[in-house]
Amino acid sequence: MNQIAPIVGRNEPEGISINGWSSIKDTLASPRVLRAEGVYFYDDSGKRWLDFTAQLFNVNLGHQDRRIIDAIKEQAEKLCFISPFYRNEPREELARLLAQVSPGDLNTFFFMNSGTEANEAALTFARMVTGRAKIMSRYRSYHGTGLTTLGVSGDPRRGASANNFPSSVKFPNPYCYRCTFNQTYPSCGVVCATSVEEQILAEGPETIAAIILEPITGGNGPIVAPPEYYGILRKICDKYGILLIADEVINGFGRTGKWFAVEHYGIIPDMMTVSKGINGGVLPLGAVMMRDGLAEKFVDRSVAIGSTQTGNPLACAAGVAALKAMIEDRVVETAAERGIYLMKRLKELEAKHRLIGEVRGLGLLASIELVKDRATREPLVAWNAPDPLVGRIKGMFNDRGVQMHVRSNQIVISPPLIITEAQLEEGLKAIDEVLTELEKTA
Ligand SMILES: Cc1ncc(COP(=O)(O)O)c(C=O)c1O
Repeated sequence: MNQIAPIVGRNEPEGISINGWSSIKDTLASPRVLRAEGVYFYDDSGKRWLDFTAQLFNVNLGHQDRRIIDAIKEQAEKLCFISPFYRNEPREELARLLAQVSPGDLNTFFFMNSGTEANEAALTFARMVTGRAKIMSRYRSYHGTGLTTLGVSGDPRRGASANNFPSSVKFPNPYCYRCTFNQTYPSCGVVCATSVEEQILAEGPETIAAIILEPITGGNGPIVAPPEYYGILRKICDKYGILLIADEVINGFGRTGKWFAVEHYGIIPDMMTVSKGINGGVLPLGAVMMRDGLAEKFVDRSVAIGSTQTGNPLACAAGVAALKAMIEDRVVETAAERGIYLMKRLKELEAKHRLIGEVRGLGLLASIELVKDRATREPLVAWNAPDPLVGRIKGMFNDRGVQMHVRSNQIVISPPLIITEAQLEEGLKAIDEVLTELEKTA
């Protein structure tokens, strides 16, 4: 007996496509979205949703930006596809624009189709050029859903594929609210960064190809490192010939109030990986950005990897339109201003709600960390423990028509960067209401 037929409610064969990170039952219970505009989307019941997450941190310019739609249409009429063995105009134009907005000498780009693929490629390059195997990364991190990228991710989702990448070495995050070293900044001397050297020496520096990290941790609950942190890591990497890879898949393209989050710290990584916001989040596209010194190694030597869709003309044309729109509309500067407003308002909520342990973030990437008790900082829900309360909280936002990331005890906020203060207030009102309701029982 087909187990699926009763769930679907039909006996004849039914084509089912499963949502990401979901079961078939979850998939069938999820809303079917018909259309979207700006910071809102609409499902087939007629319900309007406020998108307080820019979907998966990607629809940074909001939904259905006319300039991106027109660019895709125009490119589709000229050239939908050409093999990656040929250059194409939108790919080259996108590279020119990226070189303008990227920090330092990150001027050479290798396009892939997602954040996962960009990180897989960066890790391959790191191992190729150093001849070393190990990759260091942090416990609270997510770098993608491939064998290597999920293996180096600290995110417990890696457990599902039971593939823990054998050459992965992990270290703690600069998570001041829950410091692994039981210290307080600044008297700690940023031990979370300095201690990485001890780990490198214990592992053997000659075995470590790269350190990969999200400058501002994203999906694992935004964590903002102290100002000195990346400068210290940069020096350690230089000392031992280890490449530093900044995974800016979430951070990049204005999310934290700068074009790229490393700019807050004044360092240049050896490689930077990007995706999501690169083309307004509308078509699959990712990229590895390389510094000149690294790119030189590929002048005669092949990058030795690629994908059929490397530098797809439609995805790149969308990227050109998105970057031009961001420059024209001063989206990054606006995101920085909105971020200051958002943090001011979150601090007010923190003062009002006993369930809030800490609010933190940078630009339009923010987190509300929920605790049972402010004094002990006991999390409202243990990190990644299966707890029905998480679903209940998410449901409370769904009931109010607000799309929100709820991850264990973190409410993660990342609206489209074009959001207005009035629209931010709609989401903040929902948060205030949900916390008020929760405080009656939790
Ligand atoms: C920081 C980070 N890196 C990489 C990825 C993987 O990107 P993609 O889902 O496009 O494969 C993600 C996805 O959420 C991410 O948040």
